Amino acid sequence: MTKLYFYLDEPGAEIWQPAFEAAMPGVDYRPYPHWGSPDEGPAYLFAWEPEPGLVAKYPNIKAIFSLGAGVDHLTRDPDLPTDIPIIRMSDDGLKEGMAEFVLMTVLMHHRYMPRMIASQQKREWRRLFPPLASEVRVGILGYGALGKVSAAALKPLGYQVAAWSRSEKEPEHGVEHFTGTEEFEAFLARTDILVGLLPSTPETTNLLNKDTMSLMPKYASIINVGRGTLINLGDMVDLLDDGHLSAATLDVFVKEPLDQESPLWDHPKVIITPHIASITRPKSAAEYVARNIERIEKGLQPENLLDRYRGY
Ligand code: NAP
Ligand code: GLV
Repeated sequence: MTKLYFYLDEPGAEIWQPAFEAAMPGVDYRPYPHWGSPDEGPAYLFAWEPEPGLVAKYPNIKAIFSLGAGVDHLTRDPDLPTDIPIIRMSDDGLKEGMAEFVLMTVLMHHRYMPRMIASQQKREWRRLFPPLASEVRVGILGYGALGKVSAAALKPLGYQVAAWSRSEKEPEHGVEHFTGTEEFEAFLARTDILVGLLPSTPETTNLLNKDTMSLMPKYASIINVGRGTLINLGDMVDLLDDGHLSAATLDVFVKEPLDQESPLWDHPKVIITPHIASITRPKSAAEYVARNIERIEKGLQPENLLDRYRGY
């Protein structure tokens, strides 16, 4: 019988049990702290941000399923054993949710909603006339599972979509591809609305700073739904204040929740959402885990295995 340890320290976590029981009939489901002894035999772990040091106490864990696409919530544990395979989430619910959020926020930036909301708060009747979608250049940083579905959601509206990634992509109708550090500046220079969908790695940390964000066209805007480490927020606020950037929607932060004292809360050009751009859905995620445990048990490689060298 498959043993599945579960760790999620959030209210409502009990909704996961029926989803796993439906996707994996007969599963021995053990929510933390009811994992039992490591001597009871092999187990899989499905987790979000387990306590540092906890996984190391369970050498019977065969593989970890990350509850999210990101793995920084696991790898920040200095005691995490380096030999346990980690499988990143990429269920259909996560993809659909991200496509919706990116479409909504790109439309908001394109149609000047942050400026409209700021005007309303001042009781100001200020009419602004945005360009058509076909005149707006959207640039997606990261063209993985979530970057791709976001581009697919934007294309039917006519946006000029481009994407930047580490490795070269096949030519594709409706998406212009930019690759690697050598093409980063050209990507920024053509991007009016930038969507951050990169994992947190040493290479992506502070990638958006004063120098790089200054390469974007005047009045460009930023939507960050990847990880907070991408942006130097002090530099971003300077560029919003001097008018180079027109708006930012931030869903992810280096420290979450965002500090009460952060000046970002009141910034008239900033929209903050509490890391909800997309969430993993129990039904599709449990099916994804079931499918991949079956693969592992058959000796096959699971989908979306973390490459620890690349960091994603
Ligand atoms: P993914 O499939 O692994 O895609 C990652 C993309 O980033 C790939 O296109 C990759 O390039 C690119 N990339 C990574 N490092 C790069 C670098 N140094 N230079 C250029 N490109 C680089 O990941 P995903 O499933 O799309 O998820 C992306 C991130 O979204 C996750 O890591 C997570 O942090 C975040 N996320 C946030 C939320 C939220 O609610 N806010 C929800 C889910 C996920 P290659 O294609 O060349 O490999
Ligand atoms: C959410 O941030 C995720 O990594 O899935």
